[in-house]
Amino acid sequence: MEPVLEVDRVSAEHVGGAAAIDPTAFKAVLGRFASGVTVITAIDDGEPVGFACQSFASLSIDPPLVSFFPARTSSTWPRIRRAGRFTVNILADHQDSVCRQLGRPGADKFAGVEWTPSHNGSPLLTGALATIDCELRDEVDGGDHTVVIARVTGLDEHSEATPLLFYRAGFGRLAHQ
Ligand SMILES: Cc1cc2nc3c(=O)[nH]c(=O)nc-3n(C[C@H](O)[C@H](O)[C@H](O)COP(=O)(O)O)c2cc1C
Repeated sequence: MEPVLEVDRVSAEHVGGAAAIDPTAFKAVLGRFASGVTVITAIDDGEPVGFACQSFASLSIDPPLVSFFPARTSSTWPRIRRAGRFTVNILADHQDSVCRQLGRPGADKFAGVEWTPSHNGSPLLTGALATIDCELRDEVDGGDHTVVIARVTGLDEHSEATPLLFYRAGFGRLAHQ
């Protein structure tokens, strides 16, 4: 598995109180929760903007809501918030390089990235498994992250490829048996 984020692999100790939670142990233990990966995109000031986001979840069917958690340090989330509408791209297993490119800060994150406009005009990354068009509904304090709640305005399936997975700070793929 190729590492994409730095996480020290420590064995976490069982501790009694929240004050004793060590950030390194927190990352190591929570990193054992496997997920897919998304890139959340919008158009701001006529430019494509986006960031890789593993902290994405289906929240509610009626009304249709999804949730994700941008870091407070993100420079892209304020631009997506300003746009008010955006698209969640669910990445396919071959999209690790686009995920890396959109997963770190940079002046031109979309250089060489192929996309077309989704129904709401946000970048639909070529090759994505599915896209979820959204409008911002609410933001809640989430410590050093923000809990975003978004209303789903459109859904599209694009491909039968298998998903890109994220586990212990590295990318993984489904093993077919
Ligand atoms: C696989 C992967 C998953 C990520 N998941 C998140 C996430 O859930 N929330 C977040 O804020 N940043 C996440 N990041 C990091 C952001 O994508 C990155 O910090 C952001 O692109 C930084 O640029 P910005 O300052 O333009 O927002 C992830 C990065 C990678 C590579």
